[in-house]
Amino acid sequence: MCSVSSYKVWAFVLLVSGCLFFIQRGLLDTRYWKISNKHLLKTKNTTNNSIFITNRTVPPENSNFGEKNTEHSISHIWSDQNPNSSAELLLVLFTTWKMESDKTTVYTNTFLNWKKFKPHVQPVVFTNESAVIKQAMEHGWECQPLLHVSPYNVPILKYMYIQVQQKYRSRFYAYVNSDILFDDGLIKTLTAVNSSTSLPKVTPLLIIGQRTNVLNVTLAESSTFQKLHEISKRGRLFHTYAEDYFITDRRFPWETIPELAIGRPAYDNFLVLFARAGNMTVIDSTATILAVHQTTRKGNNEGRSRDHSRYNFEEINKVYKTVEYGGGLTSCSNWITRYNTTTKKVTVFQRPKHACNLILIPKTIKNR
Ligand SMILES: *[C@@H]1O[C@H](CO)[C@@H](O)[C@H](O)[C@H]1NC(C)=O
Ligand SMILES: *[C@@H]1O[C@H](CO)[C@@H](O)[C@H](O)[C@H]1NC(C)=O
Ligand SMILES: *[C@@H]1O[C@H](CO)[C@@H](O)[C@H](O)[C@H]1NC(C)=O
Ligand SMILES: *[C@@H]1O[C@H](CO)[C@@H](O)[C@H](O)[C@H]1NC(C)=O
Ligand SMILES: *[C@@H]1O[C@H](CO)[C@@H](O)[C@H](O)[C@H]1NC(C)=O
Ligand SMILES: *[C@@H]1O[C@H](CO)[C@@H](O)[C@H](O)[C@H]1NC(C)=O
Ligand SMILES: *[C@@H]1O[C@H](CO)[C@@H](O)[C@H](O)[C@H]1NC(C)=O
Ligand SMILES: *[C@@H]1O[C@H](CO)[C@@H](O)[C@H](O)[C@H]1NC(C)=O
Ligand SMILES: *[C@@H]1O[C@H](CO)[C@@H](O)[C@H](O)[C@H]1NC(C)=O
Repeated sequence: MCSVSSYKVWAFVLLVSGCLFFIQRGLLDTRYWKISNKHLLKTKNTTNNSIFITNRTVPPENSNFGEKNTEHSISHIWSDQNPNSSAELLLVLFTTWKMESDKTTVYTNTFLNWKKFKPHVQPVVFTNESAVIKQAMEHGWECQPLLHVSPYNVPILKYMYIQVQQKYRSRFYAYVNSDILFDDGLIKTLTAVNSSTSLPKVTPLLIIGQRTNVLNVTLAESSTFQKLHEISKRGRLFHTYAEDYFITDRRFPWETIPELAIGRPAYDNFLVLFARAGNMTVIDSTATILAVHQTTRKGNNEGRSRDHSRYNFEEINKVYKTVEYGGGLTSCSNWITRYNTTTKKVTVFQRPKHACNLILIPKTIKNR
């Protein structure tokens, strides 16, 4: 009995030694080999059994927003227009989104619609996602890397403006939500604003307007400006308290704006309020720009149902003591645009009157 037990012990010792021998010789699966360095990977060629080291190709943990592993390979495509060497654009139209399979039609519509305004307008998408970059390039859009996001990975608006202003020489710059389609009133309005003799010359400028919600916009329906007008009749002009596009010029002081995140409540009304408080030119172009909002089954108030919907209020409250958001409606602008019914041209004139308060009180340095 004693000899059998001793035989089992020897068998066990031999088995363990055998395993250690094979591991040490590298004949077990490469997946269990230690990766000695975070950039390099040891691999075995199974045909000739040699071990070699390659630069790591397996992706590290995916980030929430964008794909970190594509950073290196895609870096050469970031647009880098020299602002001195090229002609001035009318508008840089930019947005950002995260790939979502149920929004394929929405984004294709946006790609095709914004592309129509080239070459006076350059569409740009802020993204690190290689799939979005690929589609954007195919549609004549340009891409910018997303460099500043909130702690919850939501893009911060001001840095996108600062980034495009550094990259492109343009008369106007506009962040627009990614589900908005425009008619050619966009170009007509901006051309009229640029050449207007009644507007103050040196004050910063902000152009906003109401959107029209249209359910289930198809590729065919968005294919021409005329069709957009037709489907806008089945849609509805949305509230004056929602703004989906923000056209500014270079004078707009983005550096002094709080770190507002896109797609969350409050940033739109705050911008209008901020511009009014700073005595800037605020133009409501609802009457001359058709902005179709592609409503999906997620509805018209997506911003309020998203995570961290209080984020912008908290950022604003760090700097301001009292904010009355009701003063940030489209109808609070001091200027409006209209089509002249005989000439069909866009004219810009002062809004006769509005009933908006203006309450935006900063904290004093002491209170901060
Ligand atoms: C593995 O080695 C064989 C023979 O040298 C070679 O033909 C093959 O390309 C190698 N495979 C890889 C992935 O390097
Ligand atoms: C074995 O494969 C490695 C990696 O592919 C290669 O570098 C080496 O030249 C190959 N050796 C022979 C003898 O083919
Ligand atoms: C890894 O990439 C770097 C830079 O691209 C290069 O200098 C180095 O030789 C590469 N190493 C290997 C093992 O291929
Ligand atoms: C553009 O011109 C300005 C002034 O002439 C100069 O300071 C700036 O460096 C130039 N920018 C580029 C990208 O060449
Ligand atoms: C804006 O207006 C100015 C002066 O009328 C003109 O020189 C300039 O070309 C216009 N800019 C664009 C982009 O149309
Ligand atoms: C996007 O890529 C750039 C480099 O191209 C990187 O600096 C930035 O941190 C990335 N942004 C996010 C949100 O991962
Ligand atoms: C819109 O599309 C959804 C499916 O994506 C469908 O359930 C709904 O009935 C459609 N509504 C209209 C008015 O066509
Ligand atoms: C704002 O502009 C108006 C004229 O448009 C001027 O009367 C007023 O003094 C300005 N207010 C401030 C605070 O600059
Ligand atoms: C429309 O334009 C014509 C020609 O410039 C002008 O005479 C008329 O006053 C304009 N109408 C309005 C309502 O501004």
